[in-house]
Amino acid sequence: MKFAIINDIHIGDYRPHKGIYRKATPHAEKLLRNFVQKMNNSFMPDFVVQGGDMVEEINLSVDKKNYKKGLAILSKLNCPVYHLVGNHELKYLSIKYLKEALKYKKLYFNVDCKNFRFIFLFTKRFYPSKEIKLDFSQLKWLKKKVNTDKKIIIFSHHSLVPVNTRGNFWFSGRPDLTFIKNHSQFLNTIAGKNVKLVFNGHLHWNKRVVVNGIHYITVQSLVENTSGKIEGPPANAFTLVSLNDNFVSIKTTGRGSKDYKIKI
Ligand SMILES: [Fe+2]
Ligand SMILES: [Fe+2]
Repeated sequence: MKFAIINDIHIGDYRPHKGIYRKATPHAEKLLRNFVQKMNNSFMPDFVVQGGDMVEEINLSVDKKNYKKGLAILSKLNCPVYHLVGNHELKYLSIKYLKEALKYKKLYFNVDCKNFRFIFLFTKRFYPSKEIKLDFSQLKWLKKKVNTDKKIIIFSHHSLVPVNTRGNFWFSGRPDLTFIKNHSQFLNTIAGKNVKLVFNGHLHWNKRVVVNGIHYITVQSLVENTSGKIEGPPANAFTLVSLNDNFVSIKTTGRGSKDYKIKI
């Protein structure tokens, strides 16, 4: 079985942060189209995960337009695509709008396939506050969903566990903006269950932490300019995952690519 993750696409304005054009946003749409082609013509995954931050927020009408653009490009995939919502979607777009655009009843859900249960969580950033959380009803739902003999793989936009952000361009001074505040509740909910692997985006780098034997893998943004130049090329990163009942192999492509092989 195979799936791919593409995250932090950031369709929208090109602007500097701390003097660097760190998100190479002018490349976003083209790279997304190339990704769709590669998936359809060569990798041929069973599904694709869009990991959130599909837009770079500007204002309500532009964000709606850019969000629809991203959805239109991804709709050309020959396989299902499952969408996570990132913080950049939540700045101007409402939850009601996002549900309608995605045709989702809820922004968290699960998909069962063969021996696996894939769980997609909504790590909500509560603008204008800086708090990121899984809300109570979602945790209650999760508690039921982890009650299964299937092997569980979880996806979220923000990290579900605390991470060390030292050296991260975006969050080195603000680790609290990268992971959910109620991570202890999350860890209690999945304790002793069949969770094998967790993926998230948001931090715009490749990193892994292991908590209670579970690998939490942060994957790189499609458009991150890691070249060290003020204006440089995008990482062109996305993640290819192949799995069987015993092993998962993970390859994050592009600049600064990473490979992992994990026993599950
Ligand atoms: Fe992002
Ligand atoms: Fe984000």
